[in-house]
Amino acid sequence: MLNIFEKRILVLTGVLSMLFIFSILYAKTGRRIDVPECLPYNKAYETPKVTQVDKDLYQVYAVAQMWQFQPSQIYIPVGSTVDFYLTSKDVVHGFNIFEKNVNMMAVYGGINKTTVRFDKPGVYKITCHEYCGVGHHNMQAEVIVNYPLPK
Ligand code: CUA
Repeated sequence: MLNIFEKRILVLTGVLSMLFIFSILYAKTGRRIDVPECLPYNKAYETPKVTQVDKDLYQVYAVAQMWQFQPSQIYIPVGSTVDFYLTSKDVVHGFNIFEKNVNMMAVYGGINKTTVRFDKPGVYKITCHEYCGVGHHNMQAEVIVNYPLPK
């Protein structure tokens, strides 16, 4: 039989788990915050590319490997939404877009996805924020949003 303390611990654990699940659901639906997702792996994600899916929707297959991201420059018009699908060809790398609060891991054999909207023109640096070897500090790419501005 469980004693009173064990029962309390079980109830507390259950409540905390529910709270955790509800907070993620709330972020995703209530506040429309994009929660990074893990997707089933597919070799196609290892080929870097930028695809325009709709008028203002783009799909980027971002591939990290020592010590670069590809594509290294992503040109999109202002107001675009970008679905990033991220993987790595070797070790674990980071994928950070500071201004957009994007923080993902690029993992060999795995895909991580996030969606970002770019409402302001500019150059958004993508940096690797996970130590990955001697070239780590040079590992970056950029999202170029209407820049230079069209005349
Ligand atoms: Cu890649 Cu640090």
